[in-house]
Amino acid sequence: MKKLRMEEAAHAILARNDRGGYTVPTDRLYPFQWNWDSAFVAMGFATFNVDRAYRELERLIEGQWDNGMIPHIVFHAPSDTYFPGPDVWGTRHRIPTSGITQPPVFGMALRHVHEAALASGEAGAEVRTRALFQAALRSHRWWLAARDPKGLGLVAILHPWESGSDNSPAWDEALARVPTTTTTTIRRKDTGHVDASMRPRDEDYQRFIHLVDVYRECDWDPTRQWAKAPFKVADVQMTAILARATADLMHLAETFGSEEDRGELAQMHRRLLDGLARRWRLDLSRFVSLDLISGADIEAPTQAGFIPLVAVTLDDGQKSALTAEIERWLDGMVVGVPSAPRFSPAFEPKRYWRGPVWAVINWLIADGLRLNGAEDLARRIEQVTVQAIENAGFCEYFDPTTGEGLGGDTFSWTAAAYLVLGRRR
Ligand code: DGY
Repeated sequence: MKKLRMEEAAHAILARNDRGGYTVPTDRLYPFQWNWDSAFVAMGFATFNVDRAYRELERLIEGQWDNGMIPHIVFHAPSDTYFPGPDVWGTRHRIPTSGITQPPVFGMALRHVHEAALASGEAGAEVRTRALFQAALRSHRWWLAARDPKGLGLVAILHPWESGSDNSPAWDEALARVPTTTTTTIRRKDTGHVDASMRPRDEDYQRFIHLVDVYRECDWDPTRQWAKAPFKVADVQMTAILARATADLMHLAETFGSEEDRGELAQMHRRLLDGLARRWRLDLSRFVSLDLISGADIEAPTQAGFIPLVAVTLDDGQKSALTAEIERWLDGMVVGVPSAPRFSPAFEPKRYWRGPVWAVINWLIADGLRLNGAEDLARRIEQVTVQAIENAGFCEYFDPTTGEGLGGDTFSWTAAAYLVLGRRR
């Protein structure tokens, strides 16, 4: 009964955040279409409205650049409740967009939506999947060319916002090198919607905007940006999501790709898996990102170290070490998996990506655990996620020490996570 009521509430949130075929992450705080939010939201829609799920992905692709990049924000319609808006980005796409990207969950979502369409006999699905498959393939080509020009098998982020984990302790050292000076005047709006203690600090914002200024001055040209970037991290979370999405595109390519597409995707996949394999740290029981400017491993513990589960088949030793490490992070928490563990000096249970639990991260970790045969732990993580949402509502994220719901409320991707994970119980 409760589940049914909660599902209805989740549908209502998606309806309320619908702005005409695309969904805002939440009203006011995030009033446009965000890249990875929409991919998760499409999978949520696929549980009850496959046509609308396709529409979410199609509207995101309206923002895709000619070079293949899918931007992190598509500014379909104006809003004055968010900073930085289109004027700060100064990009030149037909529809205004930001100039950076976000985790490519798109390919995973496309396979998911396509399979839901097959199961429900959705009319016109073939044509829609085919077009979106081509868009996804172009974006993966952009990733490897623009963000792995040296062929490391790892893709780099040039801005913490690209990771989706904006103020993660993983970026502390690399971001500290970025100057706080900006040519853009900073007018934060987020702290007018959500308590400042839950958001990134002002100094973080100065560095975030400094990076936007640098890249805008490069005219958003990937080669110039790569040369100028004062922040450049080969991120295991991003690479793992790209590798997993590539595997999902390989699956779709059986039907929708050419012989060449299949070969190209298989090559991309091998390259990314090789890159990820080199990022395993036995002494830490997790994968670590690489700071491409200092050349150092990023050892700060964050959820990113577990995300390669979605793409990599672990050997037995890795699997027992990594699952034991996740258990250690869950120990004593009301809700896990925290985005940073309690034993980390950086741990702040209420501040955005420095400790709080995010439903979509748990979704990825649970998927990855299941893929690697760790069914019990996968189920446990899914159950705590669903319970946290049932107790605290469809919040942006949760305090791991209390289960309290934090950040923005009525969040679209939390609603989507409930719809997908709630069915697995
Ligand atoms: C924000 O503005 O907080 C976003 O995370 C950037 O995408």
